[in-house]
Amino acid sequence: MTGPHVAIEPSILYLGTPVVLISTLNEDGTANVAPMSSAWWLGWRAMLGLQTASQTPQNLIRTGECVLNLATVEQVAAVNKLARLTGTKAMPELKQRLGYAYEPRKFEVAGLTPIASDTVAVPRVLECPIHLEAVLAERHDMMADDPQVAGLISAFEVRITRVHVRPDLLMDGHENRIDPAKWQPLIMNFQKLYGVSNIEAAPSRLAEIEEKSYHMPDIDRAREDMLAAVG
Ligand SMILES: Cc1cc2nc3c(=O)[nH]c(=O)nc-3n(C[C@H](O)[C@H](O)[C@H](O)COP(=O)(O)O)c2cc1C
Repeated sequence: MTGPHVAIEPSILYLGTPVVLISTLNEDGTANVAPMSSAWWLGWRAMLGLQTASQTPQNLIRTGECVLNLATVEQVAAVNKLARLTGTKAMPELKQRLGYAYEPRKFEVAGLTPIASDTVAVPRVLECPIHLEAVLAERHDMMADDPQVAGLISAFEVRITRVHVRPDLLMDGHENRIDPAKWQPLIMNFQKLYGVSNIEAAPSRLAEIEEKSYHMPDIDRAREDMLAAVG
């Protein structure tokens, strides 16, 4: 039996991922911020898919640090202001063709407020309700098996060193849990921006597993590093 599906060749497979405003530090010490959405998390690690030549990954490689600022629908104006801006002065030809512009003052242009982080020199974005401070762990070249595009895109594994959350997103009675009924990530879905519903589709069998069963040593490592830093 065959189903009703048709085989297609879409140019992109952006099937819906959260929008992250990733902040990094430029060579001159100023802050860069860029929207990205090829991001996923396991434990206190994130994988980030980035065009290797962009300012953000270059800053990440050079300094080893970034902050992942998670966006909601309240940040759509800022996301759109940042779209098609780059912190790279010598813009690659592809970005020129796509209508990108060089902008060294992206926080100001997007109306975003930098605030200090605890574990990295990179500022956080005040307006975003969740901030993940992170350090670079590994870089993996994507599409390295195709000489036409090898080197263009990298996946960066970062280790989270500090999590900040607006208190109204916490689950009642839990100081370390984000309530999924209160947290609605902004989703990039085939280049368009969507909010998500706060209505649970069905009771989740997976959610019967205690959240603390997923606790990984990175959490203790981050806490110990913080304590060592303050002496
Ligand atoms: C909603 C949205 C999602 C994006 N997702 C990604 C992404 O996952 N990876 C990527 O390399 N670029 C992504 N971009 C494009 C980057 O923002 C763009 O490459 C920009 O030049 C990065 O800024 P920078 O050059 O200052 O680092 C996205 C843009 C928008 C508006």
